[in-house]
Amino acid sequence: MTQTQAKARTLPDVLKDEARLPSIPEPAVIVIFGASGDLTARKLVPALYDLAQGRRLPMQFAIVGLSRTEMSHDEFRERLREALEKHRSGRFSDDVWESFSRGIFYLSGDSKKPETYRELKGFLGELDEERKTRGNRIFYLSASPSLFSTIVERLGEAGMNEGEEGGYARLVIEKPFGRDLASAKELNADIQRYFEEGQIYRIDHYLGKETVQNILALRFSNGIFEPVWNQHYVDHVQITVAEDLGVGTRGAFYEEAGALRDIVQNHVMQVLCLTAMEPPVAFDAESVREEKVKVLKAARPIPEGEVDQYAVRGQYASGWVWGEEVDGYREEEKVAPDSTTETYVALKVFVDNWRWAGTPFYIRTGKRLPKKATEIAIQFHPTPHTPFTREGTEGLEPNVLVVRVQPEEGISLKIGAKVPGSGFQVSSVNMDLVYGTAFLEEAPDAYQRLLLDLMLGDPTLFIRADEAEGAWRILEPVMRAWSGEREIPSYPAGTWGPEEADELLRRDGRRWRRP
Ligand code: BG6
Repeated sequence: MTQTQAKARTLPDVLKDEARLPSIPEPAVIVIFGASGDLTARKLVPALYDLAQGRRLPMQFAIVGLSRTEMSHDEFRERLREALEKHRSGRFSDDVWESFSRGIFYLSGDSKKPETYRELKGFLGELDEERKTRGNRIFYLSASPSLFSTIVERLGEAGMNEGEEGGYARLVIEKPFGRDLASAKELNADIQRYFEEGQIYRIDHYLGKETVQNILALRFSNGIFEPVWNQHYVDHVQITVAEDLGVGTRGAFYEEAGALRDIVQNHVMQVLCLTAMEPPVAFDAESVREEKVKVLKAARPIPEGEVDQYAVRGQYASGWVWGEEVDGYREEEKVAPDSTTETYVALKVFVDNWRWAGTPFYIRTGKRLPKKATEIAIQFHPTPHTPFTREGTEGLEPNVLVVRVQPEEGISLKIGAKVPGSGFQVSSVNMDLVYGTAFLEEAPDAYQRLLLDLMLGDPTLFIRADEAEGAWRILEPVMRAWSGEREIPSYPAGTWGPEEADELLRRDGRRWRRP
């Protein structure tokens, strides 16, 4: 570059360039409680490794795994390396692993006992010296939820609720966040006794999914959707989180959770919030979360005496999925043979505000459905009048805008079009945008995005205390009604849920989409 060219770059140019550079977080140690569990091996460490490979982690970074299992640092590293090979599809680099694994450590200890925290504190101090992690600590609670309050209390008692020497301390809480409204409130109070809300990161991996964030991009970066995004134009909304898998080896966990707690209270409610919220003033934590909370406040709790009119549950029986015969839920490992835990939920929710009054949001989620598919479908009102003949419009359906969260991430809009030929036949066709073909960049995994935001100290895509509570409030009457029931409708694996779910929409003159 010549001198004249160099001079031509103004300060705003330089600042613009810097803003485009990816931010690298400050040095830090991430302590994972429950490190011998599935989440660490399947999600957390693969995401951190990918960040390291993409040069998004600081050089001075360390992971400390903590759980009761006895293991040496090397055994822990070896276990994680095997997990990476199993759970990551991308290229694996021995060189990256070599430097990444040098920052991985393991402590075995009982997270209920104060001495574990004394040992941990000493060890973190040594790491600050050795790896220059500057007193910044992230405590990731991926342990059993029954231990959350105790771990937080012990951390607080050990004075680890603040970073060392000017560093920060952040706390990450995995779902489930409580079992109901009362326990969520209690947990919030327990945590807030030691940590300020700004230090708490309640994680919901759906918010880390690119296509879930894209709901916001679609709504608030396009001028054409917002004017029709309301009850005047929208007939109803369908949110589907369908899975083809069963509960697999997680029977014991699932018996306690069920689909309502496992998926609806968190993932589905978050998607509902992003779909229904008002435009935030800015894309920052307070603005976005404030608008989401308003949706939860406006959502009508399912009326106590009329749960059957608004909510359906079901449990998969044996059946066929992708050509393979599969067991019913009650035959799964660690599931009671007479279990009434729901593996399917369908709900009708109303958001009682100016924008959505009278527009139903139909929500459904289930395991062992015919395919994995997460989507939001906005179905618009039909045209008030059509000039074409009834025969000519037999294949015409109302406009539907579908945001496909996974798989085949993209957006499609169903529109009416003339069928080629003589006469005037009109039929519905799809305008389709497939993200995979529109952008060259590969979407990062949800955990990668969220872990990076966490290290950068950006809580926009994390859940605030009142959001977690608000979501429980809507579902409380359903949980109460279902807890007393001895029977549960069943559906054969590989079908779209119980007949009662179809009836829920049929009563309203509508039907579920087939994603
Ligand atoms: C988890 C649930 O939170 O989300 C699982 O506990 C579920 O039961 C999973 O299978 C679905 O996530 P994804 O990203 O595969 O849609």
